[in-house]
Amino acid sequence: MGQSRRDFLRAAGGAGLFFLPGVLRGQGFSPPDGVLDVERLIKDCIDAAGKPDAQQQITGLLQRALQDPAAALAALGRPNRSGFEPVYRSSTLTILNAGLAPGLQLAPHNHAMYAVTGVYSGRERHKLWQRNGGTIQAMGERELSAGQVMSYDANAVHSLENPADQFAGAIHIYGGDFLAAARTRWHPETLQGETIDGVSERLMFEEINRRQYGDR
Ligand SMILES: [Fe+2]
Repeated sequence: MGQSRRDFLRAAGGAGLFFLPGVLRGQGFSPPDGVLDVERLIKDCIDAAGKPDAQQQITGLLQRALQDPAAALAALGRPNRSGFEPVYRSSTLTILNAGLAPGLQLAPHNHAMYAVTGVYSGRERHKLWQRNGGTIQAMGERELSAGQVMSYDANAVHSLENPADQFAGAIHIYGGDFLAAARTRWHPETLQGETIDGVSERLMFEEINRRQYGDR
């Protein structure tokens, strides 16, 4: 049993893991037609993560995986809360299932590593920013519909919102331990930066869900 299996179990021990068939059933499980093989995607991303062109390879893997967004939706389920659910986590690779409530906006932030995001349900509107001295400046935007994938270099800064009236669901893949990394988020009005990490983001999403849905 190698590193990948231990990492599966580590991810499975995290709070709020989605019930992914492959993770629960272990190696060798193949989902039926019309359901994305999430375990296969994880394994392919693990293989790609060690390569010099990992970002490019993983972008291609996610594009292929989301060619049929309904199959991803069938595997992951439509999100009904905002936040990041860990699907896989190691020191070189993090895969998250991300849900975003209708109308929700996330302030500009960096990732401190390359990032690949692909929408499987609903839409995400991404705004791109560039650093300008101690602050940031907007430089464009792009909207992702189900099946579309976008790749960010390690120094990228973006914000995003859900412009639709249903939850957005997306697979986010990062080239490192995203949940442990110290990152920067810029206040949406003042554009002043503050340090954040996976713990502060989880608390932020818990507060968002508590306000919107009365979660305890
Ligand atoms: Fe992001």
